[in-house]
Amino acid sequence: MNKPIVLSGIRSTGHLHLGNYYGALRNFVDMQNDYDCRYFIADYHSLTTQPDPSVLNPNVRSILAEYLAAGMDPDKCIVYVQSDVPETCEFYTLLNMHAYLGELEKTVSFKDKARKQPNNVNAGLLTYPVLMAADILQHKANFVPVGKDQLQHLEMARNFANRFNHFYKTDFMVEPKPYEAKGEPIKIPGLDGSGKMGKSEGNCIYINDEDAVVIKKFKKAVTDMTPTEPNSEMNEPIKNLFYFLKLVSAPEVYDQFLAAWNDCSIRYGDLKMQIAEDVLKVTRPIRERYNEIYANADYLNKVREQGAEKARAIVRKNVEEMRQLMGFRKF
Ligand code: TYM
Repeated sequence: MNKPIVLSGIRSTGHLHLGNYYGALRNFVDMQNDYDCRYFIADYHSLTTQPDPSVLNPNVRSILAEYLAAGMDPDKCIVYVQSDVPETCEFYTLLNMHAYLGELEKTVSFKDKARKQPNNVNAGLLTYPVLMAADILQHKANFVPVGKDQLQHLEMARNFANRFNHFYKTDFMVEPKPYEAKGEPIKIPGLDGSGKMGKSEGNCIYINDEDAVVIKKFKKAVTDMTPTEPNSEMNEPIKNLFYFLKLVSAPEVYDQFLAAWNDCSIRYGDLKMQIAEDVLKVTRPIRERYNEIYANADYLNKVREQGAEKARAIVRKNVEEMRQLMGFRKF
Protein backbone atom coordinates (compact mmCIF):
# COMPACT_ATOMS: atom_id res chain seq x y z
CA MET A 1 0.00 0.00 0.00
CA ASN A 2 1.16 3.53 -0.72
CA LYS A 3 2.32 5.49 2.28
CA PRO A 4 0.45 8.72 3.10
CA ILE A 5 2.13 11.78 1.63
CA VAL A 6 3.56 14.42 3.97
CA LEU A 7 4.63 17.84 2.71
CA SER A 8 6.44 20.39 4.78
CA GLY A 9 8.01 23.74 3.96
CA ILE A 10 9.98 26.54 5.59
CA ARG A 11 10.52 30.01 4.13
CA SER A 12 14.15 30.74 3.39
CA THR A 13 14.55 33.92 5.36
CA GLY A 14 17.48 32.95 7.60
CA HIS A 15 18.24 30.09 9.95
CA LEU A 16 15.79 27.62 11.43
CA HIS A 17 14.50 28.74 14.80
CA LEU A 18 12.85 26.77 17.58
CA GLY A 19 9.38 27.68 16.28
CA ASN A 20 10.20 26.07 12.92
CA TYR A 21 11.79 23.07 14.55
CA TYR A 22 9.08 22.27 17.07
CA GLY A 23 6.19 23.51 14.91
CA ALA A 24 7.06 21.76 11.67
CA LEU A 25 10.07 19.48 11.88
CA ARG A 26 10.09 17.90 15.31
CA ASN A 27 8.89 14.49 14.21
CA PHE A 28 10.42 14.29 10.79
CA VAL A 29 13.24 11.89 11.58
CA ASP A 30 10.67 9.25 12.53
CA MET A 31 8.16 10.33 9.92
CA GLN A 32 10.48 9.78 7.00
CA ASN A 33 10.38 6.05 7.75
CA ASP A 34 6.60 5.77 7.93
CA TYR A 35 5.39 8.34 5.39
CA ASP A 36 6.22 9.46 1.89
CA CYS A 37 7.86 12.72 3.02
CA ARG A 38 8.67 15.73 0.89
CA TYR A 39 10.39 18.68 2.55
CA PHE A 40 11.11 21.84 0.66
CA ILE A 41 12.55 25.31 1.12
CA ALA A 42 10.13 28.07 0.15
CA ASP A 43 12.38 30.57 -1.58
CA TYR A 44 9.66 32.06 -3.82
CA HIS A 45 7.71 32.81 -0.65
CA SER A 46 10.70 34.58 0.86
CA LEU A 47 10.43 37.24 -1.88
CA THR A 48 7.12 38.51 -0.49
CA THR A 49 9.00 40.09 2.41
CA GLN A 50 12.68 39.98 1.51
CA PRO A 51 13.46 40.46 -2.19
CA ASP A 52 17.26 40.67 -1.78
CA PRO A 53 19.30 38.70 -4.36
CA SER A 54 22.45 38.82 -2.21
CA VAL A 55 20.89 36.80 0.62
CA LEU A 56 18.57 34.51 -1.31
CA ASN A 57 21.13 31.86 -2.11
CA PRO A 58 22.98 31.75 1.24
CA ASN A 59 19.62 31.57 3.04
CA VAL A 60 18.48 28.59 0.99
CA ARG A 61 21.85 26.96 1.54
CA SER A 62 21.67 27.39 5.33
CA ILE A 63 18.21 25.89 5.62
CA LEU A 64 19.16 22.97 3.39
CA ALA A 65 22.27 22.34 5.52
CA GLU A 66 20.15 22.60 8.67
CA TYR A 67 17.56 20.15 7.35
CA LEU A 68 20.33 17.66 6.65
CA ALA A 69 22.17 18.34 9.92
CA ALA A 70 18.93 17.70 11.78
CA GLY A 71 18.69 14.24 10.25
CA MET A 72 16.70 14.57 7.04
CA ASP A 73 17.83 11.69 4.86
CA PRO A 74 17.65 12.47 1.12
CA ASP A 75 17.55 8.75 0.37
CA LYS A 76 14.40 8.31 2.46
CA CYS A 77 12.56 11.50 1.60
CA ILE A 78 12.50 14.17 -1.08
CA VAL A 79 14.32 17.36 -0.09
CA TYR A 80 14.06 20.18 -2.60
CA VAL A 81 14.09 23.90 -3.22
CA GLN A 82 10.77 25.44 -4.31
CA SER A 83 12.24 27.40 -7.23
CA ASP A 84 13.91 24.26 -8.61
CA VAL A 85 10.40 23.05 -9.44
CA PRO A 86 9.09 25.85 -11.68
CA GLU A 87 6.01 23.73 -12.49
CA THR A 88 4.78 25.06 -9.13
CA CYS A 89 4.32 28.44 -10.84
CA GLU A 90 1.92 26.96 -13.36
CA PHE A 91 -0.06 25.18 -10.65
CA TYR A 92 -0.19 28.46 -8.74
CA THR A 93 -1.38 30.43 -11.78
CA LEU A 94 -4.14 27.94 -12.48
CA LEU A 95 -5.22 27.85 -8.84
CA ASN A 96 -5.26 31.65 -8.70
CA MET A 97 -8.21 31.65 -11.09
CA HIS A 98 -10.31 30.13 -8.34
CA ALA A 99 -9.06 32.27 -5.44
CA TYR A 100 -11.06 35.36 -4.61
CA LEU A 101 -9.88 38.78 -3.56
CA GLY A 102 -12.27 38.90 -0.60
CA GLU A 103 -10.94 35.74 1.00
CA LEU A 104 -7.31 36.67 0.32
CA GLU A 105 -7.68 40.12 1.83
CA LYS A 106 -9.18 38.63 4.97
CA THR A 107 -6.22 36.35 5.66
CA VAL A 108 -4.63 37.18 9.01
CA SER A 109 -1.07 36.90 7.68
CA PHE A 110 -1.87 39.31 4.81
CA LYS A 111 -3.37 41.91 7.12
CA ASP A 112 -0.43 41.53 9.46
CA LYS A 113 2.23 41.88 6.75
CA ALA A 114 0.37 44.76 5.05
CA ARG A 115 0.54 46.58 8.39
CA LYS A 116 4.22 45.78 8.88
CA GLN A 117 5.38 46.70 5.36
CA PRO A 118 2.94 49.37 4.14
CA ASN A 119 5.27 50.41 1.32
CA ASN A 120 5.45 46.93 -0.14
CA VAL A 121 1.98 45.39 -0.17
CA ASN A 122 2.75 43.35 -3.27
CA ALA A 123 0.51 40.90 -5.12
CA GLY A 124 2.70 38.02 -3.95
CA LEU A 125 1.80 38.90 -0.39
CA LEU A 126 -1.89 38.84 -1.25
CA THR A 127 -1.69 35.49 -3.04
CA TYR A 128 0.76 33.96 -0.56
CA PRO A 129 -1.85 31.38 0.54
CA VAL A 130 -2.48 30.37 -3.08
CA LEU A 131 1.20 29.65 -3.66
CA MET A 132 1.29 27.73 -0.39
CA ALA A 133 -1.79 25.77 -1.44
CA ALA A 134 -0.10 25.04 -4.78
CA ASP A 135 2.96 23.69 -2.91
CA ILE A 136 0.73 21.29 -1.06
CA LEU A 137 -1.94 20.36 -3.59
CA GLN A 138 0.54 19.71 -6.40
CA HIS A 139 1.84 16.80 -4.30
CA LYS A 140 -1.64 15.57 -3.37
CA ALA A 141 -0.32 15.70 0.17
CA ASN A 142 -2.39 14.05 2.89
CA PHE A 143 -0.65 15.70 5.83
CA VAL A 144 1.17 18.97 6.43
CA PRO A 145 3.08 19.42 9.68
CA VAL A 146 2.66 23.07 10.62
CA GLY A 147 2.57 25.27 13.68
CA LYS A 148 -0.59 27.00 14.83
CA ASP A 149 0.25 30.15 12.84
CA GLN A 150 -0.16 28.31 9.51
CA LEU A 151 -3.48 26.63 10.23
CA GLN A 152 -5.47 29.31 8.42
CA HIS A 153 -3.36 28.86 5.28
CA LEU A 154 -3.95 25.14 5.44
CA GLU A 155 -7.67 25.67 5.83
CA MET A 156 -7.55 27.83 2.69
CA ALA A 157 -5.70 25.07 0.82
CA ARG A 158 -8.54 22.71 1.79
CA ASN A 159 -11.09 25.23 0.54
CA PHE A 160 -9.28 25.67 -2.77
CA ALA A 161 -9.08 21.89 -3.19
CA ASN A 162 -12.78 21.45 -2.51
CA ARG A 163 -13.78 24.31 -4.73
CA PHE A 164 -11.68 22.95 -7.61
CA ASN A 165 -13.10 19.44 -7.23
CA HIS A 166 -16.62 20.79 -7.13
CA PHE A 167 -16.15 23.12 -10.08
CA TYR A 168 -14.53 20.54 -12.36
CA LYS A 169 -16.53 17.60 -10.96
CA THR A 170 -13.42 15.65 -10.06
CA ASP A 171 -11.60 14.20 -7.06
CA PHE A 172 -8.22 15.31 -8.40
CA MET A 173 -7.38 17.55 -5.44
CA VAL A 174 -6.62 15.88 -2.11
CA GLU A 175 -7.65 17.78 1.02
CA PRO A 176 -4.57 18.20 3.21
CA LYS A 177 -4.85 17.84 6.98
CA PRO A 178 -2.53 19.34 9.58
CA TYR A 179 -0.23 16.69 10.97
CA GLU A 180 -0.31 16.55 14.74
CA ALA A 181 1.81 13.86 16.31
CA LYS A 182 0.24 14.33 19.71
CA GLY A 183 -2.81 16.47 20.24
CA GLU A 184 -2.51 20.23 20.03
CA PRO A 185 -0.86 22.22 17.25
CA ILE A 186 2.27 23.92 18.51
CA LYS A 187 2.82 27.60 19.05
CA ILE A 188 6.29 28.35 20.33
CA PRO A 189 6.11 31.60 22.26
CA GLY A 190 8.64 34.39 22.13
CA LEU A 191 10.61 34.94 25.33
CA ASP A 192 9.61 38.57 25.38
CA GLY A 193 6.44 37.90 27.32
CA SER A 194 3.80 37.62 24.62
CA GLY A 195 3.17 36.48 21.05
CA LYS A 196 4.94 33.83 19.02
CA MET A 197 8.59 33.24 18.26
CA GLY A 198 9.18 34.45 14.72
CA LYS A 199 11.72 36.02 12.41
CA SER A 200 9.73 39.18 11.92
CA GLU A 201 9.22 39.41 15.69
CA GLY A 202 13.02 39.45 16.10
CA ASN A 203 12.85 37.18 19.15
CA CYS A 204 14.18 33.90 17.82
CA ILE A 205 16.40 31.29 19.32
CA TYR A 206 18.09 29.76 16.33
CA ILE A 207 19.04 26.11 15.98
CA ASN A 208 22.45 27.47 15.12
CA ASP A 209 22.93 29.69 18.18
CA GLU A 210 26.01 28.90 20.27
CA ASP A 211 25.42 27.55 23.80
CA ALA A 212 26.26 30.88 25.41
CA VAL A 213 23.82 32.72 23.13
CA VAL A 214 20.96 30.32 23.93
CA ILE A 215 21.62 30.60 27.66
CA LYS A 216 21.78 34.40 27.44
CA LYS A 217 18.49 34.56 25.53
CA PHE A 218 16.76 32.38 28.12
CA LYS A 219 18.24 34.38 30.99
CA LYS A 220 16.72 37.50 29.46
CA ALA A 221 13.26 35.91 29.13
CA VAL A 222 10.57 38.11 30.64
CA THR A 223 9.19 36.83 33.96
CA ASP A 224 7.40 38.47 36.87
CA MET A 225 7.40 38.54 40.67
CA THR A 226 7.55 35.02 42.15
CA PRO A 227 4.15 33.88 43.43
CA THR A 228 3.25 34.65 47.03
CA GLU A 229 0.00 32.68 47.22
CA PRO A 230 -0.01 28.88 46.75
CA ASN A 231 -1.56 27.62 43.50
CA SER A 232 -1.72 31.08 41.89
CA GLU A 233 -2.78 31.69 38.27
CA MET A 234 0.22 32.10 35.95
CA ASN A 235 0.49 35.20 33.82
CA GLU A 236 1.45 34.91 30.13
CA PRO A 237 5.28 35.05 30.33
CA ILE A 238 5.32 32.33 33.00
CA LYS A 239 2.78 30.22 31.14
CA ASN A 240 5.06 30.51 28.12
CA LEU A 241 8.06 29.23 30.05
CA PHE A 242 6.05 26.30 31.36
CA TYR A 243 4.85 25.58 27.82
CA PHE A 244 8.49 25.38 26.74
CA LEU A 245 9.36 23.21 29.72
CA LYS A 246 6.60 20.74 28.88
CA LEU A 247 7.81 20.51 25.31
CA VAL A 248 11.53 20.06 25.90
CA SER A 249 11.97 18.57 29.35
CA ALA A 250 11.13 15.24 30.97
CA PRO A 251 7.63 14.97 32.54
CA GLU A 252 9.07 14.54 36.06
CA VAL A 253 11.12 17.74 35.64
CA TYR A 254 7.95 19.56 34.57
CA ASP A 255 6.11 18.20 37.61
CA GLN A 256 8.91 19.36 39.95
CA PHE A 257 8.78 22.92 38.63
CA LEU A 258 5.00 22.99 38.71
CA ALA A 259 5.06 21.84 42.34
CA ALA A 260 7.62 24.59 43.08
CA TRP A 261 5.30 27.12 41.45
CA ASN A 262 2.36 25.87 43.46
CA ASP A 263 4.17 26.03 46.80
CA CYS A 264 5.83 29.37 45.89
CA SER A 265 9.40 28.03 46.10
CA ILE A 266 10.08 28.44 42.38
CA ARG A 267 13.27 30.21 41.22
CA TYR A 268 12.94 31.58 37.72
CA GLY A 269 16.70 31.41 37.17
CA ASP A 270 16.59 27.63 37.68
CA LEU A 271 13.55 27.27 35.45
CA LYS A 272 15.21 29.19 32.60
CA MET A 273 18.48 27.25 32.90
CA GLN A 274 16.60 23.95 32.87
CA ILE A 275 14.82 24.86 29.64
CA ALA A 276 18.01 26.24 28.05
CA GLU A 277 19.94 23.03 28.88
CA ASP A 278 17.17 20.82 27.48
CA VAL A 279 16.87 22.92 24.32
CA LEU A 280 20.63 22.66 23.84
CA LYS A 281 20.45 18.86 24.04
CA VAL A 282 18.40 19.07 20.85
CA THR A 283 20.14 21.91 19.03
CA ARG A 284 23.81 21.30 19.91
CA PRO A 285 24.27 18.14 17.82
CA ILE A 286 22.51 19.81 14.86
CA ARG A 287 24.75 22.87 15.12
CA GLU A 288 27.85 20.68 15.31
CA ARG A 289 26.99 18.88 12.07
CA TYR A 290 25.77 22.03 10.32
CA ASN A 291 29.09 23.78 9.67
CA GLU A 292 30.62 20.80 7.90
CA ILE A 293 27.54 20.26 5.74
CA TYR A 294 27.20 23.97 4.91
CA ALA A 295 30.80 24.06 3.68
CA ASN A 296 30.30 21.09 1.35
CA ALA A 297 28.84 22.74 -1.75
CA ASP A 298 29.25 19.60 -3.89
CA TYR A 299 27.20 17.52 -1.49
CA LEU A 300 24.53 20.21 -1.14
CA ASN A 301 24.26 20.59 -4.90
CA LYS A 302 23.95 16.84 -5.31
CA VAL A 303 21.15 16.63 -2.73
CA ARG A 304 19.44 19.61 -4.30
CA GLU A 305 19.57 18.19 -7.82
CA GLN A 306 18.40 14.78 -6.71
CA GLY A 307 15.47 16.34 -4.82
CA ALA A 308 14.53 18.62 -7.70
CA GLU A 309 14.48 15.74 -10.14
CA LYS A 310 12.19 13.61 -7.97
CA ALA A 311 9.87 16.49 -7.07
CA ARG A 312 9.62 17.70 -10.66
CA ALA A 313 8.63 14.28 -11.94
CA ILE A 314 5.75 14.13 -9.45
CA VAL A 315 4.60 17.70 -9.92
CA ARG A 316 4.86 17.65 -13.71
CA LYS A 317 2.49 14.69 -13.84
CA ASN A 318 -0.01 16.37 -11.51
CA VAL A 319 0.11 19.72 -13.34
CA GLU A 320 -0.53 17.90 -16.59
CA GLU A 321 -3.61 16.28 -15.06
CA MET A 322 -4.78 19.67 -13.81
CA ARG A 323 -4.32 21.20 -17.27
CA GLN A 324 -6.38 18.44 -18.82
CA LEU A 325 -9.18 18.92 -16.31
CA MET A 326 -9.24 22.65 -16.95
CA GLY A 327 -9.47 22.16 -20.71
CA PHE A 328 -5.91 22.63 -21.95
CA ARG A 329 -5.84 19.85 -24.53
CA LYS A 330 -4.63 19.13 -28.04
CA PHE A 331 -7.03 19.89 -30.89
P1 TYM B 1 7.58 29.75 8.12
O1 TYM B 1 8.84 29.70 7.35
O2 TYM B 1 7.16 31.01 8.76
O3 TYM B 1 7.59 28.65 9.22
C1 TYM B 1 7.86 27.31 8.88
C2 TYM B 1 7.13 26.37 9.79
O4 TYM B 1 7.45 26.66 11.14
C3 TYM B 1 6.26 26.87 11.88
N1 TYM B 1 6.47 27.93 12.87
C4 TYM B 1 6.06 27.80 14.13
N2 TYM B 1 5.44 26.81 14.78
C5 TYM B 1 5.18 27.00 16.10
N3 TYM B 1 5.52 28.13 16.77
C6 TYM B 1 6.14 29.15 16.16
N4 TYM B 1 6.48 30.22 16.84
C7 TYM B 1 6.44 29.02 14.78
N5 TYM B 1 7.05 29.83 13.86
C8 TYM B 1 7.05 29.14 12.69
C9 TYM B 1 5.22 27.30 10.86
O5 TYM B 1 3.92 27.03 11.34
C10 TYM B 1 5.61 26.49 9.67
O6 TYM B 1 5.04 25.20 9.77
N6 TYM B 1 4.03 29.64 4.72
C11 TYM B 1 5.01 28.83 5.37
C12 TYM B 1 6.00 28.18 4.43
C13 TYM B 1 5.34 27.35 3.42
C14 TYM B 1 4.73 26.08 3.63
C15 TYM B 1 4.24 25.69 2.36
C16 TYM B 1 4.56 25.28 4.75
C17 TYM B 1 5.22 27.65 2.10
N7 TYM B 1 4.56 26.66 1.47
C18 TYM B 1 3.58 24.47 2.21
C19 TYM B 1 3.90 24.06 4.58
C20 TYM B 1 3.42 23.67 3.33
C21 TYM B 1 5.78 29.74 6.31
O7 TYM B 1 5.89 30.92 6.15
O8 TYM B 1 6.39 29.13 7.27
